[in-house]
Amino acid sequence: MEYKNVLTKKEDGLGWIIINRPDRLNALNAETIKELYQAFLSFEGGSEVKAVILTGSGEKAFVAGADIGELSRLDMSTGEKYVLEGQKLTILIENFKKPVIAAVNGYALGGGTELALSCHIRIASEKAKMGQPEVKLGLIPGFGGTQRLARLVGKGKALELILSGKMIDAQEALTIGLLNRVVPPEELSSTCEAFAREIMANAPLALEYSIEAINKGLDQTLEEGLRLEAKLFGKACATEDSKEGTQAFLEKRKVNFRGK
Ligand code: COA
Repeated sequence: MEYKNVLTKKEDGLGWIIINRPDRLNALNAETIKELYQAFLSFEGGSEVKAVILTGSGEKAFVAGADIGELSRLDMSTGEKYVLEGQKLTILIENFKKPVIAAVNGYALGGGTELALSCHIRIASEKAKMGQPEVKLGLIPGFGGTQRLARLVGKGKALELILSGKMIDAQEALTIGLLNRVVPPEELSSTCEAFAREIMANAPLALEYSIEAINKGLDQTLEEGLRLEAKLFGKACATEDSKEGTQAFLEKRKVNFRGK
């Protein structure tokens, strides 16, 4: 499918989604949010794509936030509707059945940090800068920042970042747990791809159930989360791939997962 602000490609089981509005530093306008949603949906079904890397085009930005031109025109009712569309996209990514890696290639501000927060893994270039500057515009994060940032880095750091609106560099983002890894800019794509392929070598349904258990469990009590884990463990035991995985180990041979 052709998009105006998004590029997609599939390479040997790996799907790439590239936000492509470099003259606006890949800022998310309503059209781009819709296109990203469609791009993710196009990779959701079937087994052709086994993992996705989300990144921004150009050297400078992953996503420099929601489009401030659009934000300037919102009122109470359109504002709420606007962020619900962004949240719909982040919910799709967060619960995507296939692992999604954010390759944070530059500025990831506001909606950019929030988009990265919805991905399962975040790897950044040393040049990346992250932050939630919405309060500087008289706004608050609206694509999940107040919720996912606090869940990922803790309430104290989330309040520090959101109330100050300050930008932090990749190293600090790594230190507080906002990023999984930081690499030199020229190694970002290859590192993300290598990590995606390492993950893709594992059983697809086991990956899906792991994502589900972690996402749903975090919003439940420990007891409920453990119940869910047991249920999904049982589901994993019923897959052909769990027989194949355990058998391959016992027979000391290479595993051949089929996503069944
Ligand atoms: N929405 C709309 N346009 C944006 C944008 C955004 N979030 N971020 C950058 N742009 C545009 C700029 O207006 C500029 O357009 P112009 O060439 O027509 O003047 C272009 O992208 C390049 O950005 P510029 O500000 O000139 O680059 P810079 O290197 O001086 O600064 C940033 C980079 C990221 C620090 C700066 O662009 C910025 O602060 N952006 C807004 C970040 C933000 O508040 N995001 C949260 C929104 S909720």
